[in-house]
Amino acid sequence: MKILLTGGAGYIGSHTAIELLKQGNEIVIIDDFSNSSSKALDAIKKITGKDFKFYEMDYKDREKLEKVFEENKIDAVINFAGFKAVGESVKKPLNYYINNVSGALVLLDTMKKYNCKKFVFSSSATVYGNPEKVPLTEECRVGGTSNPYGRTKLMIEYILKDIYTSDDSWDICILRYFNPVGNHESGLIGEEPRGIPNNLMPYIVRVASGKLEQLSIFGNDYNTHDGTGVRDYIHVVDLAKGHVKAIEKLEKEGKGLYIYNLGTGIGYSVLDIVNAFEKSTGQKINYKITERRPGDIAECYADSKKAKEELNWIAEKNLEDMCRDSWTYIKNQKQE
Ligand code: UD1
Repeated sequence: MKILLTGGAGYIGSHTAIELLKQGNEIVIIDDFSNSSSKALDAIKKITGKDFKFYEMDYKDREKLEKVFEENKIDAVINFAGFKAVGESVKKPLNYYINNVSGALVLLDTMKKYNCKKFVFSSSATVYGNPEKVPLTEECRVGGTSNPYGRTKLMIEYILKDIYTSDDSWDICILRYFNPVGNHESGLIGEEPRGIPNNLMPYIVRVASGKLEQLSIFGNDYNTHDGTGVRDYIHVVDLAKGHVKAIEKLEKEGKGLYIYNLGTGIGYSVLDIVNAFEKSTGQKINYKITERRPGDIAECYADSKKAKEELNWIAEKNLEDMCRDSWTYIKNQKQE
Protein backbone atom coordinates (compact mmCIF):
# COMPACT_ATOMS: atom_id res chain seq x y z
CA MET A 1 0.00 0.00 0.00
CA LYS A 2 1.06 3.56 -0.65
CA ILE A 3 -0.17 5.68 2.23
CA LEU A 4 -0.26 9.45 2.50
CA LEU A 5 0.35 10.81 6.00
CA THR A 6 -0.71 14.40 6.49
CA GLY A 7 1.18 15.80 9.47
CA GLY A 8 3.53 12.84 9.24
CA ALA A 9 6.43 14.67 10.91
CA GLY A 10 4.40 15.21 14.09
CA TYR A 11 4.35 13.17 17.26
CA ILE A 12 1.87 10.44 16.34
CA GLY A 13 2.43 10.73 12.59
CA SER A 14 6.16 10.05 12.80
CA HIS A 15 5.71 7.03 15.05
CA THR A 16 3.07 5.66 12.68
CA ALA A 17 5.36 6.28 9.69
CA ILE A 18 7.95 4.00 11.32
CA GLU A 19 5.48 1.18 11.92
CA LEU A 20 4.02 1.42 8.40
CA LEU A 21 7.49 1.29 6.82
CA LYS A 22 8.43 -1.64 9.06
CA GLN A 23 5.43 -3.56 7.69
CA GLY A 24 6.60 -2.98 4.11
CA ASN A 25 4.25 -0.16 3.14
CA GLU A 26 5.30 2.82 1.07
CA ILE A 27 4.57 6.23 2.54
CA VAL A 28 4.37 9.83 1.40
CA ILE A 29 4.52 12.52 4.07
CA ILE A 30 3.25 16.08 3.89
CA ASP A 31 3.84 18.52 6.73
CA ASP A 32 4.25 22.27 7.12
CA PHE A 33 6.32 21.95 10.31
CA SER A 34 3.86 24.19 12.15
CA ASN A 35 4.13 21.86 15.14
CA SER A 36 7.00 19.55 14.15
CA SER A 37 10.48 19.58 12.68
CA SER A 38 12.47 17.98 9.87
CA LYS A 39 14.51 16.16 12.53
CA ALA A 40 11.66 13.68 12.80
CA LEU A 41 11.96 12.83 9.09
CA ASP A 42 15.67 12.08 9.45
CA ALA A 43 14.91 9.95 12.51
CA ILE A 44 12.26 7.92 10.64
CA LYS A 45 14.84 7.17 7.93
CA LYS A 46 17.54 6.30 10.44
CA ILE A 47 15.30 4.00 12.49
CA THR A 48 13.80 2.14 9.51
CA GLY A 49 16.65 2.37 6.98
CA LYS A 50 13.95 3.30 4.44
CA ASP A 51 13.29 6.37 2.35
CA PHE A 52 10.06 8.11 1.37
CA LYS A 53 8.78 11.14 -0.47
CA PHE A 54 8.20 14.32 1.50
CA TYR A 55 6.36 17.55 0.60
CA GLU A 56 6.71 20.62 2.80
CA MET A 57 3.26 22.15 2.48
CA ASP A 58 0.04 23.04 4.23
CA TYR A 59 -2.51 20.27 3.70
CA LYS A 60 -5.19 22.90 3.08
CA ASP A 61 -3.33 24.06 -0.05
CA ARG A 62 -5.53 22.37 -2.61
CA GLU A 63 -3.32 23.02 -5.61
CA LYS A 64 -0.29 21.49 -3.94
CA LEU A 65 -2.35 18.63 -2.56
CA GLU A 66 -3.63 17.78 -6.05
CA LYS A 67 -0.02 17.68 -7.22
CA VAL A 68 0.76 15.13 -4.52
CA PHE A 69 -2.09 12.93 -5.81
CA GLU A 70 -0.98 13.49 -9.44
CA GLU A 71 2.58 12.47 -8.66
CA ASN A 72 1.79 9.49 -6.44
CA LYS A 73 -0.72 6.69 -6.69
CA ILE A 74 -2.05 7.01 -3.16
CA ASP A 75 -4.08 4.03 -1.88
CA ALA A 76 -5.02 5.42 1.54
CA VAL A 77 -4.68 8.52 3.68
CA ILE A 78 -4.13 8.91 7.42
CA ASN A 79 -4.90 12.42 8.60
CA PHE A 80 -2.63 13.60 11.43
CA ALA A 81 -2.57 17.25 10.38
CA GLY A 82 -4.68 18.59 13.21
CA PHE A 83 -3.98 21.22 15.83
CA LYS A 84 -4.35 19.65 19.27
CA ALA A 85 -3.79 22.11 22.11
CA VAL A 86 -7.01 22.47 24.08
CA GLY A 87 -6.18 25.83 25.71
CA GLU A 88 -4.99 27.34 22.43
CA SER A 89 -8.20 26.20 20.74
CA VAL A 90 -10.24 28.21 23.25
CA LYS A 91 -8.20 31.33 22.48
CA LYS A 92 -8.03 30.81 18.71
CA PRO A 93 -11.17 28.90 17.72
CA LEU A 94 -11.09 30.04 14.11
CA ASN A 95 -7.57 28.70 13.64
CA TYR A 96 -8.78 25.35 14.92
CA TYR A 97 -11.93 25.20 12.81
CA ILE A 98 -10.03 26.32 9.72
CA ASN A 99 -7.09 24.02 10.14
CA ASN A 100 -8.84 20.94 11.45
CA VAL A 101 -12.27 21.09 9.78
CA SER A 102 -11.61 23.03 6.56
CA GLY A 103 -8.34 21.11 6.16
CA ALA A 104 -10.12 17.77 6.45
CA LEU A 105 -12.72 18.93 3.90
CA VAL A 106 -10.06 19.94 1.36
CA LEU A 107 -8.31 16.64 1.92
CA LEU A 108 -11.45 14.50 1.58
CA ASP A 109 -12.64 16.37 -1.49
CA THR A 110 -9.26 15.96 -3.14
CA MET A 111 -9.24 12.26 -2.29
CA LYS A 112 -12.65 11.94 -3.92
CA LYS A 113 -11.38 13.64 -7.07
CA TYR A 114 -8.55 11.12 -7.33
CA ASN A 115 -10.81 8.22 -6.38
CA CYS A 116 -8.79 7.48 -3.27
CA LYS A 117 -11.39 6.39 -0.72
CA LYS A 118 -9.57 4.76 2.17
CA PHE A 119 -9.28 7.13 5.09
CA VAL A 120 -8.07 6.78 8.68
CA PHE A 121 -8.91 9.63 11.00
CA SER A 122 -7.16 10.61 14.25
CA SER A 123 -10.04 11.23 16.59
CA SER A 124 -9.94 11.42 20.35
CA ALA A 125 -11.62 10.19 23.49
CA THR A 126 -12.49 13.86 23.93
CA VAL A 127 -15.56 13.23 21.70
CA TYR A 128 -17.18 11.41 24.63
CA GLY A 129 -17.26 14.67 26.61
CA ASN A 130 -18.13 13.81 30.19
CA PRO A 131 -18.22 9.99 29.91
CA GLU A 132 -21.63 8.46 30.49
CA LYS A 133 -19.79 5.45 31.99
CA VAL A 134 -16.34 3.94 32.25
CA PRO A 135 -14.90 1.95 30.61
CA LEU A 136 -16.08 3.73 27.49
CA THR A 137 -17.31 1.60 24.61
CA GLU A 138 -17.56 2.95 21.07
CA GLU A 139 -21.35 2.97 21.46
CA CYS A 140 -21.26 5.41 24.37
CA ARG A 141 -22.89 8.77 23.83
CA VAL A 142 -20.70 11.41 22.17
CA GLY A 143 -20.99 15.17 22.52
CA GLY A 144 -20.77 17.70 25.28
CA THR A 145 -17.19 18.47 24.24
CA SER A 146 -15.92 21.39 26.29
CA ASN A 147 -13.63 23.18 23.82
CA PRO A 148 -13.17 23.97 20.09
CA TYR A 149 -10.43 21.35 19.69
CA GLY A 150 -12.78 18.61 20.88
CA ARG A 151 -15.60 19.95 18.73
CA THR A 152 -13.44 19.82 15.59
CA LYS A 153 -12.84 16.12 16.23
CA LEU A 154 -16.54 15.45 16.68
CA MET A 155 -17.50 17.53 13.64
CA ILE A 156 -15.12 15.60 11.43
CA GLU A 157 -16.55 12.33 12.74
CA TYR A 158 -20.04 13.52 11.67
CA ILE A 159 -18.69 14.64 8.29
CA LEU A 160 -17.16 11.21 7.74
CA LYS A 161 -20.44 9.49 8.64
CA ASP A 162 -22.31 11.69 6.14
CA ILE A 163 -19.78 10.97 3.41
CA TYR A 164 -20.08 7.25 4.02
CA THR A 165 -23.87 7.39 4.05
CA SER A 166 -23.85 9.12 0.67
CA ASP A 167 -21.27 6.83 -0.92
CA ASP A 168 -20.46 3.45 0.62
CA SER A 169 -17.49 2.89 -1.63
CA TRP A 170 -15.51 4.83 0.99
CA ASP A 171 -13.63 2.76 3.58
CA ILE A 172 -13.24 4.82 6.73
CA CYS A 173 -11.72 4.12 10.09
CA ILE A 174 -12.10 6.53 12.99
CA LEU A 175 -9.58 5.94 15.78
CA ARG A 176 -10.42 7.48 19.12
CA TYR A 177 -7.13 7.93 20.95
CA PHE A 178 -7.04 7.98 24.71
CA ASN A 179 -3.94 9.67 26.27
CA PRO A 180 -0.87 9.06 24.11
CA VAL A 181 2.47 9.18 25.95
CA GLY A 182 5.99 7.77 25.52
CA ASN A 183 8.30 7.92 22.54
CA HIS A 184 10.14 5.54 20.26
CA GLU A 185 12.60 3.51 22.34
CA SER A 186 15.54 4.82 20.27
CA GLY A 187 15.04 8.23 21.87
CA LEU A 188 15.39 9.78 18.40
CA ILE A 189 11.85 11.08 18.06
CA GLY A 190 9.48 12.42 20.61
CA GLU A 191 6.83 14.85 21.59
CA GLU A 192 7.82 18.52 21.50
CA PRO A 193 4.87 20.68 22.44
CA ARG A 194 5.25 24.39 21.76
CA GLY A 195 5.64 26.49 24.90
CA ILE A 196 4.62 25.19 28.29
CA PRO A 197 2.93 21.79 27.93
CA ASN A 198 -0.66 21.27 29.03
CA ASN A 199 -0.62 17.52 29.10
CA LEU A 200 0.58 15.59 32.09
CA MET A 201 3.50 13.50 30.81
CA PRO A 202 5.21 16.28 28.81
CA TYR A 203 4.96 18.40 31.95
CA ILE A 204 6.38 15.68 34.21
CA VAL A 205 9.43 15.08 32.00
CA ARG A 206 10.19 18.80 31.96
CA VAL A 207 10.04 18.94 35.74
CA ALA A 208 12.41 15.96 35.83
CA SER A 209 14.81 17.66 33.42
CA GLY A 210 14.81 20.88 35.44
CA LYS A 211 13.14 22.89 32.67
CA LEU A 212 10.05 23.42 34.79
CA GLU A 213 10.12 23.78 38.52
CA GLN A 214 7.06 22.02 39.85
CA LEU A 215 4.11 19.95 38.69
CA SER A 216 0.69 21.18 39.74
CA ILE A 217 -1.69 18.29 40.33
CA PHE A 218 -5.08 19.61 39.41
CA GLY A 219 -7.27 18.48 42.28
CA ASN A 220 -7.17 15.54 44.70
CA ASP A 221 -10.84 15.51 45.61
CA TYR A 222 -12.21 13.54 42.66
CA ASN A 223 -14.13 10.37 43.26
CA THR A 224 -11.19 8.14 42.27
CA HIS A 225 -8.95 5.72 44.22
CA ASP A 226 -6.60 8.50 45.42
CA GLY A 227 -8.63 11.59 44.55
CA THR A 228 -6.60 12.60 41.48
CA GLY A 229 -7.86 12.35 37.89
CA VAL A 230 -7.79 8.96 36.17
CA ARG A 231 -6.91 8.49 32.50
CA ASP A 232 -6.04 5.73 30.03
CA TYR A 233 -2.42 6.40 29.04
CA ILE A 234 -1.29 4.57 25.92
CA HIS A 235 2.24 4.23 24.56
CA VAL A 236 2.54 6.04 21.24
CA VAL A 237 4.20 3.00 19.61
CA ASP A 238 1.15 0.88 20.49
CA LEU A 239 -1.03 3.64 19.10
CA ALA A 240 1.04 3.71 15.90
CA LYS A 241 0.59 -0.06 15.53
CA GLY A 242 -3.15 0.46 15.83
CA HIS A 243 -3.00 2.58 12.66
CA VAL A 244 -1.19 -0.20 10.81
CA LYS A 245 -3.97 -2.61 11.84
CA ALA A 246 -6.60 -0.10 10.71
CA ILE A 247 -4.94 0.26 7.32
CA GLU A 248 -4.74 -3.54 7.00
CA LYS A 249 -8.44 -3.84 7.77
CA LEU A 250 -9.36 -1.24 5.15
CA GLU A 251 -7.09 -2.96 2.63
CA LYS A 252 -8.34 -6.51 3.21
CA GLU A 253 -11.96 -6.02 4.17
CA GLY A 254 -12.79 -2.39 3.49
CA LYS A 255 -16.37 -1.47 2.76
CA GLY A 256 -17.46 0.17 5.94
CA LEU A 257 -17.13 2.91 8.45
CA TYR A 258 -15.47 1.64 11.57
CA ILE A 259 -14.85 3.29 14.94
CA TYR A 260 -12.34 2.02 17.48
CA ASN A 261 -11.12 3.15 20.87
CA LEU A 262 -7.35 2.94 21.10
CA GLY A 263 -6.53 2.68 24.79
CA THR A 264 -5.14 0.09 27.19
CA GLY A 265 -8.35 -0.26 29.14
CA ILE A 266 -6.49 0.61 32.36
CA GLY A 267 -7.05 3.84 34.26
CA TYR A 268 -4.14 5.40 36.14
CA SER A 269 -4.37 8.43 38.41
CA VAL A 270 -2.05 11.44 38.28
CA LEU A 271 -0.32 10.19 41.44
CA ASP A 272 0.04 6.69 39.94
CA ILE A 273 1.87 8.30 37.01
CA VAL A 274 4.12 10.42 39.21
CA ASN A 275 5.03 7.39 41.34
CA ALA A 276 5.62 5.14 38.32
CA PHE A 277 7.77 7.81 36.70
CA GLU A 278 9.91 8.21 39.79
CA LYS A 279 10.29 4.46 40.15
CA SER A 280 11.20 3.70 36.55
CA THR A 281 13.54 6.66 35.95
CA GLY A 282 14.95 7.38 39.42
CA GLN A 283 14.00 11.06 38.95
CA LYS A 284 12.17 12.87 41.73
CA ILE A 285 9.11 14.89 40.71
CA ASN A 286 8.47 18.02 42.71
CA TYR A 287 4.71 18.55 42.89
CA LYS A 288 1.96 20.38 44.71
CA ILE A 289 -1.80 19.87 44.82
CA THR A 290 -3.77 22.76 43.36
CA GLU A 291 -7.35 23.55 42.30
CA ARG A 292 -9.15 21.40 39.74
CA ARG A 293 -8.56 22.47 36.12
CA PRO A 294 -11.83 23.75 34.59
CA GLY A 295 -13.33 21.29 32.15
CA ASP A 296 -11.51 18.27 33.60
CA ILE A 297 -13.35 15.04 34.29
CA ALA A 298 -12.70 12.55 37.07
CA GLU A 299 -12.23 9.37 35.07
CA CYS A 300 -11.80 8.37 31.47
CA TYR A 301 -10.64 5.00 30.21
CA ALA A 302 -11.41 2.75 27.32
CA ASP A 303 -13.12 -0.52 26.79
CA SER A 304 -10.69 -1.75 24.15
CA LYS A 305 -12.45 -5.04 23.35
CA LYS A 306 -13.70 -3.98 19.93
CA ALA A 307 -10.21 -3.15 18.63
CA LYS A 308 -8.94 -6.46 19.96
CA GLU A 309 -11.70 -8.46 18.30
CA GLU A 310 -11.94 -6.63 14.99
CA LEU A 311 -8.43 -5.25 14.45
CA ASN A 312 -6.53 -7.94 16.33
CA TRP A 313 -4.82 -5.12 18.20
CA ILE A 314 -3.97 -4.69 21.85
CA ALA A 315 -1.67 -2.29 23.65
CA GLU A 316 1.44 -4.24 24.63
CA LYS A 317 3.51 -1.70 26.51
CA ASN A 318 3.07 -1.01 30.20
CA LEU A 319 3.29 2.08 32.37
CA GLU A 320 6.98 1.51 33.06
CA ASP A 321 7.71 1.50 29.29
CA MET A 322 5.68 4.70 28.89
CA CYS A 323 7.57 6.52 31.66
CA ARG A 324 11.01 5.27 30.63
CA ASP A 325 10.54 6.10 26.93
CA SER A 326 9.09 9.52 27.71
CA TRP A 327 12.19 10.28 29.75
CA THR A 328 14.80 8.82 27.33
CA TYR A 329 13.96 11.31 24.61
CA ILE A 330 14.11 14.33 26.93
CA LYS A 331 17.35 13.07 28.46
CA ASN A 332 18.85 12.79 24.96
CA GLN A 333 17.72 16.33 24.13
CA LYS A 334 19.47 17.59 27.25
CA GLN A 335 22.71 15.99 26.15
CA GLU A 336 22.63 17.46 22.65
C1 UD1 B 1 -6.45 16.53 27.43
C2 UD1 B 1 -7.56 17.27 26.75
C3 UD1 B 1 -8.17 16.37 25.69
C4 UD1 B 1 -7.10 15.87 24.72
C5 UD1 B 1 -5.99 15.17 25.51
C6 UD1 B 1 -4.84 14.79 24.60
C7 UD1 B 1 -8.42 18.87 28.41
C8 UD1 B 1 -9.58 19.27 29.26
N1 UD1 B 1 -8.55 17.73 27.71
O1 UD1 B 1 -7.03 15.43 28.10
O2 UD1 B 1 -9.17 17.07 25.00
O3 UD1 B 1 -7.66 14.97 23.81
O4 UD1 B 1 -5.49 16.06 26.51
O5 UD1 B 1 -3.99 13.90 25.23
O6 UD1 B 1 -7.41 19.56 28.38
N2 UD1 B 1 -2.86 17.07 35.04
C9 UD1 B 1 -2.29 17.62 36.17
N3 UD1 B 1 -1.32 18.57 36.01
C10 UD1 B 1 -0.87 18.98 34.78
C11 UD1 B 1 -1.45 18.39 33.63
C12 UD1 B 1 -2.45 17.46 33.80
O7 UD1 B 1 -2.66 17.29 37.30
O8 UD1 B 1 0.01 19.85 34.70
C13 UD1 B 1 -3.90 16.02 35.20
C14 UD1 B 1 -5.26 16.40 34.61
O9 UD1 B 1 -6.05 17.08 35.55
C15 UD1 B 1 -5.80 15.01 34.24
C16 UD1 B 1 -4.55 14.21 33.88
O10 UD1 B 1 -3.46 14.89 34.50
O11 UD1 B 1 -6.41 14.40 35.35
C17 UD1 B 1 -4.30 14.13 32.38
O12 UD1 B 1 -4.31 15.45 31.84
P1 UD1 B 1 -3.91 15.73 30.31
O13 UD1 B 1 -2.61 15.07 30.00
O14 UD1 B 1 -4.00 17.20 30.10
O15 UD1 B 1 -5.01 14.96 29.48
P2 UD1 B 1 -6.61 15.03 29.52
O16 UD1 B 1 -7.08 16.04 30.49
O17 UD1 B 1 -7.10 13.65 29.71
